Amino acid sequence: MNRKKFIKTCGLACLSTSAFGLLLQSCSGSKIIAAQIVGENIIVPLKDFEIVKKSEKAYRNYLVIQNEKLKYPIYIFRFSEKEYSALYMQCTHQGVELTAYGDKLVCSAHGSEFDNKGNVQNSPASKALRTFPVISENNQLKISLKS
Ligand code: FES
Repeated sequence: MNRKKFIKTCGLACLSTSAFGLLLQSCSGSKIIAAQIVGENIIVPLKDFEIVKKSEKAYRNYLVIQNEKLKYPIYIFRFSEKEYSALYMQCTHQGVELTAYGDKLVCSAHGSEFDNKGNVQNSPASKALRTFPVISENNQLKISLKS
C-alpha cells in the first residue's frame, strides 16, 4: 500500500470510529440541558425526560443540568414518575467534575464512583455526594439549591 492510500484508509477508519462513538452516545439515553434558576430553585420540565419512539413514550434515566450560576452540573436520576435524586457532580475526593455513565457517576482523576443516590461505590472518595431536595409538581421538578 502506498502512502496516499494508507492515509486515505486511516482517515476513513478514523471517521467511522468517530461516527460510531456519536451514535453510541445518542443511544445512551442521556441529555444535557441548560436549566432555568428561579429564586432558589432549578426548574426542570418533566417532558425533558421523555423520549418519543414511534408514538410510544419512554423516559430517560437521567439528565445533566447546567446553568452559568452553577460551578458544577447537577445529575438528576429518575427512579419513577414521582421519585428523583439530584446530585452535585463534584467529586468529594479532590473536587474534580464527575462524568455520568447511566446510573453511576465516575471521576476521571482517581477512579472514584458514586451510585445514583450519591453513595460512594469505589474509593478513594469516602464521602457521599452533595444532594438537593427534589419536588415534583405541575409537570416540573423543583430542585432546591438552599441546602
Ligand atoms: S478527585 Fe475524584 S477520585 Fe480523586
